Amino acid sequence: MTIHIGAGIGEIAETVLMPGDPYRAAWAARTFLNNAELVNETRGMLGYTGTWNGHRVTIHGSGMGMPSLSIYANELIRDHGARTVIRVGTCGALQPHLELGDIILAMTASSRSSPSDGIFGQVRFAPCADWGLLQSAARASAKTGIQPHIGGIFSSDAFYDERPDMTDTLTRHGVLGIEMEAAELYQVAARHGARALAVLTVSDNLASGAEMPARQREQTLGDMFEIALHSSFD
Ligand code: HPA
Repeated sequence: MTIHIGAGIGEIAETVLMPGDPYRAAWAARTFLNNAELVNETRGMLGYTGTWNGHRVTIHGSGMGMPSLSIYANELIRDHGARTVIRVGTCGALQPHLELGDIILAMTASSRSSPSDGIFGQVRFAPCADWGLLQSAARASAKTGIQPHIGGIFSSDAFYDERPDMTDTLTRHGVLGIEMEAAELYQVAARHGARALAVLTVSDNLASGAEMPARQREQTLGDMFEIALHSSFD
């Protein structure tokens, strides 16, 4: 048991999938895991451990934003022994060729700030996904008939951002999408020698204002969990 995770030591699997929303964790545990047991509900942040194809897996919410994800990623990796952590979430598209529902595998995650910044001093660390995991996710996507976009994303501190010039600069530099957690996940994982990846669905388009309908969200959520599960045990 750690400050924010009520699970006993040993109740968290080495492979953890992290949606932002705890109710999505509950949905995914019901949908994909056998014998899923609730292992955390501290502050309503639900976590479940069960098996998928015989492999032990934990599905645990991260909350929204890097400060929240950082708390859970630190405790899961450092104290509960998680070795592979995959964020499963949504992002806003920053490139015109991206459609709602498209899947992005985040090779890198830039940010303006993150809870890890303090330790880097003058270094601008480049948070990146685990290469093996990224390759496995690309293969798993292809098997499911999905052609993912692979490239850089931006992890923001603000959902309601008032800086169109910043998103424009990111777009001009080929950044695919914007979300709020991956950069910190990649840094915490790097610090503790764990593997990390973010598998994201485009839920909205910042340029056009288009948003994905609720039903399509559920379908793509399922696709992301399938990709994350297959790539964890490739
Ligand atoms: N901005 C930040 N985070 C997001 C977005 C967005 O447009 N869409 C989904 N997560």
